[in-house]
Amino acid sequence: MSPIIYHDIPSLRAALQPYRGHEIDKQDRQQRIALVPTMGNLHQGHLELVKIAKQHADIVVVSIFVNPTQFGVGEDFDSYPRTLDDDVAKLATVGADYVFAPSVDAMYPVLPPPTTVLAGAISSQLCGQSRPGHFDGVGIVVSKLFNIVQPDVAIFGQKDYQQLAIIKQLVRDLSYPIEIVGAPIIRADDGLALSSRNQYLTESERQVAPILHRELQDLAEQLKGGGISQQAFESLLKDKRTRISDAGFTIDYLEVKTEALGSVVSDSTTFNIENKNIVILVAAWLGRARLLDNQLVVVG
Ligand code: PAF
Repeated sequence: MSPIIYHDIPSLRAALQPYRGHEIDKQDRQQRIALVPTMGNLHQGHLELVKIAKQHADIVVVSIFVNPTQFGVGEDFDSYPRTLDDDVAKLATVGADYVFAPSVDAMYPVLPPPTTVLAGAISSQLCGQSRPGHFDGVGIVVSKLFNIVQPDVAIFGQKDYQQLAIIKQLVRDLSYPIEIVGAPIIRADDGLALSSRNQYLTESERQVAPILHRELQDLAEQLKGGGISQQAFESLLKDKRTRISDAGFTIDYLEVKTEALGSVVSDSTTFNIENKNIVILVAAWLGRARLLDNQLVVVG
């Protein structure tokens, strides 16, 4: 069945109201609502988020909104693919119940919005360095979506690792009664992490793109034993950066962090990663596409 589409906030709220504790299902349970926030142009990765949402809730709302406040000047806000009809057809195949596809005016009566959300310290590193203000824009739109949908659970992809960490922090800091579920990265057969921006790749760039994942896997393999000197660590990273650049990428960052996105280095000589979960994160341009990927490593 095709999901029901709403373009404005009052209609969506009215549609969801009956599920909020007043009506119960056949087992006398309250209905749980899940939110899957997206910017549309859906691929298999998004559909997997919906499948996970269905395991956590009775009603699944998918938001489709290309959010202007998270795009910087000169970024791809205008050209970002908008494919609502295709998206809705895909969502019908995985049983999403409602689509919320608001206009920019419906979401932001005033733009830029005078009230802002500052995403905090973890947002200033990694993607936040090359995209200043990006996570504040994500913060405000996600806060608004949480207030509009009032879901019990919301699902976000782990491909956007930093975004997921920031949203978990936002939920803690602003006391949203919402469970945040991180969903595994979905990859093409050759390892490339699925992303709407992969379609910016030319045919030959698409052949090269999976190298990013292969290099991350290789680095993960070399780090998982732990106990290497700071110098060896630096030289491993340098080697990886060279290999990725030589393959044709322009690296934005390639970094190794703790799971909570803290620094893994305890002092200038020791690489202190024993018995810790670490994450390798990369952002790199290939032609017009800025590709993101990451790899969790359990060390020791
Ligand atoms: O990950 C995305 O697609 C967007 O950043 C999100 C979470 C939908 C907010 O616009």
